[in-house]
Amino acid sequence: MKAIVLQRNLDSKIELVSMPDPELMPGEALVRIKAAALNHRDEWCRQGLYPNLSDGVVLGSDGAGVVEKVCDESNSAWIGKEVIINPAMFWGEDQRAQSKDFKILGMPRNGTFGEYIAIPVDRLHHKPEHLTWEEAAALPLAGLTAFRALTYQGQAKAGDQVLVTGIGGGVAQFAAQYAKALGVTLSVSSSRSAKLEKAKALGADFGFNYLEPDWIEQALQAAGGFDVIIDGAAGDAINNLIHVCKPGGRIVLYGATMGIPNKLEARKVYWNQLKIMGSTMGSDRDFRQMVAFVEEKGIRPELDQIFSLEEAEKAFEKMKAGDQFGKIVFKL
Ligand SMILES: NC(=O)c1ccc[n+]([C@@H]2O[C@H](COP(=O)([O-])OP(=O)(O)OC[C@H]3O[C@@H](n4cnc5c(N)ncnc54)[C@H](OP(=O)(O)O)[C@@H]3O)[C@@H](O)[C@H]2O)c1
Repeated sequence: MKAIVLQRNLDSKIELVSMPDPELMPGEALVRIKAAALNHRDEWCRQGLYPNLSDGVVLGSDGAGVVEKVCDESNSAWIGKEVIINPAMFWGEDQRAQSKDFKILGMPRNGTFGEYIAIPVDRLHHKPEHLTWEEAAALPLAGLTAFRALTYQGQAKAGDQVLVTGIGGGVAQFAAQYAKALGVTLSVSSSRSAKLEKAKALGADFGFNYLEPDWIEQALQAAGGFDVIIDGAAGDAINNLIHVCKPGGRIVLYGATMGIPNKLEARKVYWNQLKIMGSTMGSDRDFRQMVAFVEEKGIRPELDQIFSLEEAEKAFEKMKAGDQFGKIVFKL
């Protein structure tokens, strides 16, 4: 099969290779991938910024396809089924946090950027019928992360004022769509006014450019502060979020694209009874609930651009540049 693997001795750090089709182990299914999607994690791997990297591993956490084979007769009902793959592996039994064995598909285990993947059948879910292959492939990792951050950690509910930062991002897109479906008043932020306009056309009530020095005043005036803030950037800008969070509000961090904060407005945090919490992907329960929510509300992932595997370097460069609005997808 052909696949995109990490190859750090190359300038591009990734390579399209021809490799043997995966062999099945007990409990596994062979899925013919129809579409796969990029996450920032894949770009962090390419930049060498992820732990335990190995060259030759097929990248990619997100995929959708058709089950062609299973190892065990007992799983034969899966053959021919259209599926999406849950990339969160070995979460464990505790809904509050993942086990120490937790792994994300696509490093160190071979991922979805290839024509075939061998994957335990307990990671398979039926593809939501209302989604195209490309949309279905865009859902798992970012859709799960946004769902847990917003609903389990953020406890967002109808009537809340919710802010989703960096609306161009993959996770942010889902968080914004889910928040609207819950009935909140939605604010978004972005570095680009074109992305803010697009977000408003898709249902956001207010948009703020976080590069404008007075965006905090604009946000406070428009929304009067936020009950829930969903952020994947962190950095020192977290102090701006502390400033616009309502007393008793929640700030949920799922990423640190801007790095670790050098300072924290601790006084504001304790005086305003703020809850700052972290969120990573989600449990099997979160995944099941997320897929059911997406089906019930008819949510469709926002796709930025669709590439072939041959164009992988262009796709990764686009993610690195932060030019996208929504998910970057490979069609196989
Ligand atoms: N914990 C988890 O389970 C989990 C899961 C997925 C991702 N992540 C992490 O979350 C982050 C985003 O991931 P992604 O896949 O959604 O990436 P992505 O699609 O590449 O999103 C990146 C977006 O971050 C926004 N951004 C950059 N600087 C910002 C700032 N100062 N304030 C607010 N937003 C800013 C930009 O939005 P604009 O273009 O609109 O300005 C950019 O489009 C990454 O760090 C990733 O590693 C964590």
